[in-house]
Amino acid sequence: MTATDPPASTRYPAGGEAFPHKDLTGISELAPWQILYLLDEAEQWVELNRQRTKHVDALAGLTIINAFFENSTRTLLSFEIAGKRLGADVVNMHAATSSVKKGETLIDTAATLNAMRVDAIVIRHASSGAVRLIADQVDCPVLNAGDGRHEHPTQALLDALTMRRWLRSRGLEEFNGLKVAICGDILHSRVARSNILLLTALGAEVRVCAPPALMPAAIEQMRVTPFHRFDEAIEDADVVMMLRLQNERMSGPFVPSAREYRHLYGLTQTRLERAAPHALVMHPGPMNRGVEIDSNVADLPEIDGMVRSAITGQVEMGVAIRMACLDVLTRRARGVPGWEPLA
Ligand code: CP
Repeated sequence: MTATDPPASTRYPAGGEAFPHKDLTGISELAPWQILYLLDEAEQWVELNRQRTKHVDALAGLTIINAFFENSTRTLLSFEIAGKRLGADVVNMHAATSSVKKGETLIDTAATLNAMRVDAIVIRHASSGAVRLIADQVDCPVLNAGDGRHEHPTQALLDALTMRRWLRSRGLEEFNGLKVAICGDILHSRVARSNILLLTALGAEVRVCAPPALMPAAIEQMRVTPFHRFDEAIEDADVVMMLRLQNERMSGPFVPSAREYRHLYGLTQTRLERAAPHALVMHPGPMNRGVEIDSNVADLPEIDGMVRSAITGQVEMGVAIRMACLDVLTRRARGVPGWEPLA
């Protein structure tokens, strides 16, 4: 191995492209090389999405169902756009107008979708583990678009693609040693969980910061450093990722007031000055401006040609990542050479 070779854990297996999973239910099931494989696959779709004509026929004849049992703007639309740009027929199932409202169980819903011989199902659900439950009931690939507080794998992948492109624009390549501070409602956040799993797998130094009531117990076991003071967590950070308070998952008030929360945990311009001078600002959205992030930070323009706020860039990368995931996970059903059926 030469000094420029990647570590063994991030190298693709020799001679094989096959991605050894039927579904994408969480980052926890991916080896580091599989994460990097999906990021590499997404690059071609970033380029396509910047052309005037953004369409290929790779998934022509396939049917994809987006089954969203929770609200979404970015994830639902980008999965829909991703499927359509790849040439698939895309159907959105809205839980509010489905037979779930008449008491149909999740397993019966899964059996119903399976009987329609769809080729991929994308699911968002309020219950942690609901996506795995459906994945085990159906024949086609299932992609997790966020399940409870468990995981949001495509969000972590699009965040990683955003970071990697930013690193490359600065002449850097590696996540190894990258200092990432994730601040907000860590307890309820599937985005935090998937990002922690991904970033630590690639060697980043992850700090998490939250009020005591919003920090999971034993979070150190996820190989992160916990902080309760944001001014300490952000010190010299290369990337500052802000999260909103997930009020829909709280049984009561976890913070005294939005004003006090902003004072202690909001990303203000003054506080950002404690991070590295080049620090990248990220937020998965939706943002609560003036609570976890101030507008003059969320909307920071490029400085000396260097991106400071990546928030709209993250949305752009979301379409490319979801195209990569849909493409890769449907290759076996499409009979792409080299992609043998899973045992
Ligand atoms: N980041 C994210 O999941 O946003 P949506 O809830 O709008 O999909």
